[in-house]
Amino acid sequence: IDLNLDADGRNETAPLLYGWMFEDISHSGDGGIYAEAIQNRAFQGSTRDNPGLPFGPSLDGYYPVGNVTLRLSRMQPLSEALPVVMEMEIGGLAEGEVGFFNEGWWGINVEPGTYNVSFYAKGNGARMNGTLSSVNVSLRSNLTDDTWAEQTIEMTEDKNISYFSWTQFETQLVVEESAPNSNNSFYLTFNASEVAGDVFYFSLISLFPETYKNRPNGIRRDLGQIVEDLGTTFFRFPGGNNLEGESIDQRWKWDKTLGPLIDRAGRVGNWGYYNTDGLGLMEYLLFCEDVGMEPVLGVYSGYSLDNYGAGDTSFPEDAMRPVLEDILNELEFITGNTSTYWGNYRAELGHPEPFELNFVEIGNEDWFSPSSYNYRFPYLYSGIKDAYPNLTLIASAYNERDYNLTLPPGVIWDTHHYELPSYFLQNFDFYDNWREETNNSDVGVFIGEYSVFQIDSTLPELNFSRPPPIEHVSSPRLLSIIGEGVYLLGAERNPDVVRMAGYAPSFCNLNSVQWDPDLVDFTANYNETVRSTSYFLQQLFAHSRGTHTLPVTNSEGEFNPLWWSATIDEDVNAVYVKVINSGNATVDFSVNVGAE
Ligand code: AHR
Repeated sequence: IDLNLDADGRNETAPLLYGWMFEDISHSGDGGIYAEAIQNRAFQGSTRDNPGLPFGPSLDGYYPVGNVTLRLSRMQPLSEALPVVMEMEIGGLAEGEVGFFNEGWWGINVEPGTYNVSFYAKGNGARMNGTLSSVNVSLRSNLTDDTWAEQTIEMTEDKNISYFSWTQFETQLVVEESAPNSNNSFYLTFNASEVAGDVFYFSLISLFPETYKNRPNGIRRDLGQIVEDLGTTFFRFPGGNNLEGESIDQRWKWDKTLGPLIDRAGRVGNWGYYNTDGLGLMEYLLFCEDVGMEPVLGVYSGYSLDNYGAGDTSFPEDAMRPVLEDILNELEFITGNTSTYWGNYRAELGHPEPFELNFVEIGNEDWFSPSSYNYRFPYLYSGIKDAYPNLTLIASAYNERDYNLTLPPGVIWDTHHYELPSYFLQNFDFYDNWREETNNSDVGVFIGEYSVFQIDSTLPELNFSRPPPIEHVSSPRLLSIIGEGVYLLGAERNPDVVRMAGYAPSFCNLNSVQWDPDLVDFTANYNETVRSTSYFLQQLFAHSRGTHTLPVTNSEGEFNPLWWSATIDEDVNAVYVKVINSGNATVDFSVNVGAE
């Protein structure tokens, strides 16, 4: 096959085509990109002890050291947001070392560097004997006697465990050498000779390794780097289903994710575990700034899922005002100047400059509520556009699936595809004539979630049930990237239509898999992170793309089994030709670059 590149007829490529979809699923937030190493740091909610509802507070992750009893207490709230704390009762006859340890998120990565430790403690007046001189914190192996780092916090007159009020303690653990694995725990212990018979309370126990770009309360260093390395241009957050909530009250509430951690209550996430909200709106926006990605902000659109059986819920048409007001406040927080209420709050939180925000998505997968998005979208669209005319708004449903929703010019439609490889091949040209076929001149497309989910087989349709059937693709493989790659070539060829694309889900902690396949799998051990074939495909595509498309003609006329796209980078005069062979035989081809 001869591919002839035509120097004429160039179109600008879509600058943001390759991006990142993120939501807290499969512990990709807590226990994932959020670098906090302590599991269940404030006893907010469970996965282990309370596998069913109502995700009650638990001691998940904590174990006693020596002669102590650990239990939950509601009698000594740390704050309004964190009312449940851990009580530690030390036996009257205790000897040696006493305290507790936390196993982290299925382990703790230990590598050279500085770990920031913080915790709150309080005593029980009636039960304190007042002889406490120090507390010991350390990082230790679960398998050997190794202690990787250790620090003694001396009690002083100004700072000690008081029975009148909570005291915050902060220190650092300096690790000199890497542990051979992540089978390590964080210990907080006392000398029993000083505390036998005492009762202490603890909460907000935190351990932060060095983070991506050294942000306090930031992103796991290696996972942040992986996002950067792909060449990611946008970051869609916070969901996905996790934006919507299992009920209206359990939705992602942006304003509850702000400010000091002691004021963040967290929420029941949509993926079977509690979200601390330590990874909040500010953290997402700062991560976007640090990587240099466009934030694509998903805003709550008045629709919540209800997987617990009662059905989904939409705000009624005449009750949408609070939903809009909430969005406008959120946008003011992100982009308002410091003379505004929310802009001023952002400044107080350390970011006086407004964040750059150009894309807002109204909801997620609202095709699941055809009867209500038809009024929710137009209402929210006009309300947001009136206040922020320069924002590009994204609709999460369009005229597929029996919809009758007219999108105004300039809107982008977010479409999701978890499919068979054959689907992606068959739809390579889906966007070639899409404008004419849908009779729209100015609606863009965002392939907001996609992956090869299942191989082609005898199954009549995609099977989303768990555990996956034999045909399910649990990790991306060569077959995946042939399908995904061909579809992305189709996107590259139609930059006036397809503006953005993001594989989903992106990150997965292999100790808690709610959805696979995923782009990147990881554990607590930074050396075990796996970038999938789909990751490498996108990285290759993102880094090998010009500023303009180059039309290609070929001697045979047909795609399949070869599929291609060509672009030119006008700044450096480099031509990129991407070719995929989806067949099982070698195909000879030549590329002729027209002289210009
Ligand atoms: O990516 C996993 C889920 O798939 C997302 O939360 C949702 O938008 C889609 O159904």
